[in-house]
Amino acid sequence: MPNISKTADAARLEEAAAIILSGGLVAMPTETVYGLAADATNDVATAKIFEAKGRPQFNPLIIHVSGKEMAARYAEFSSVADALADAFWPGALTLVLPRRADSGLSHLVSAGLDTIAIRAPAHPIARRLIDALDRPLAAPSANRSGAISPTSAADVAQSLGGNIDFIIDGGPCEIGLESTIVKIEEGEVLLLRPGGVPREDIELVIDAPLQKLSDKKIQAPGMMKSHYAPNVSVYLDVLSPPSDHAFLDFAKSNLDHRHRLDLSPDGILLEAAANLFASLRSLDQICTDNDLDGISVAPIPHDGLGEAINDRLRRAAAPRD
Ligand code: TXA
Ligand code: MG
Repeated sequence: MPNISKTADAARLEEAAAIILSGGLVAMPTETVYGLAADATNDVATAKIFEAKGRPQFNPLIIHVSGKEMAARYAEFSSVADALADAFWPGALTLVLPRRADSGLSHLVSAGLDTIAIRAPAHPIARRLIDALDRPLAAPSANRSGAISPTSAADVAQSLGGNIDFIIDGGPCEIGLESTIVKIEEGEVLLLRPGGVPREDIELVIDAPLQKLSDKKIQAPGMMKSHYAPNVSVYLDVLSPPSDHAFLDFAKSNLDHRHRLDLSPDGILLEAAANLFASLRSLDQICTDNDLDGISVAPIPHDGLGEAINDRLRRAAAPRD
């Protein structure tokens, strides 16, 4: 098992920074989900991420930096990119931008693409780690490829424990959903993955509708159809869950069900997002313990963070490869 630090005092952070400098892997808390961090300029270190996650090599990683100034060492910023970084960084927005020829980043992090995905996380521990190293950190969500993203240090230990050197425990993630990813291409802003920053907030800043990914051919994100998958099958928009299913409820739609968890009894999407992955994990365990056949999920509204929540649920419910 890795060394799990319960506190993020200076000595522990120094230890984590030293591990990253020597090419190791550290799981760090961010405000979205826990990330599995490595030095993004080190090929071997980034390769270890793919190995630890069992991730297909074609799936590129997000680079974590302290802010726009540091990001500009690695990516080309257009005026739209500038405006988005000013509005949402530090925070849950990832920008896909042209990669600078002199970036010095490992080519593994962009999986051979000429773009990179980059964001400045808001979590103080992630920020202190980046500041201590003054290096870009490549960090995908710290789970096995295709599984549910971790929102606590215990989730990371359970999913990847044996494969990583150090886990910094920063408590539960405040947002609980991955960052929103947008790609800026010829002045247009494309939504690649809905996430912690709602579409509406981005549209206010760019003063235009976000373009849909659907008709553009992009080898993108957690764009693999089956993703975030629990062990049992998941069924969506269920009003009357069968008794041999666990039930993921929203806003108390069916209080009678026996194995029921409510994402937000008061119907608050922010709370539902924060609880989503942990609830899927718990229900998956409940299914195993009680020999249940699947997880039924109540309908969730699509506005605001609902878009990202529904996106993750659709992937969790998608047919498995
Ligand atoms: O909130 C988050 O974004 C978390 C925390 C740790 O920062 N990270 C995260 O990383 O969700 P990951 O690797 O699980 O998802 C990153 C997604 C992947 O689906 C990948 O395909 C996409 O970003 N991506 C990375 N680079 C890209 C690029 N150059 N073009 C398009 N998509 C890219
Ligand atoms: Mg992920």
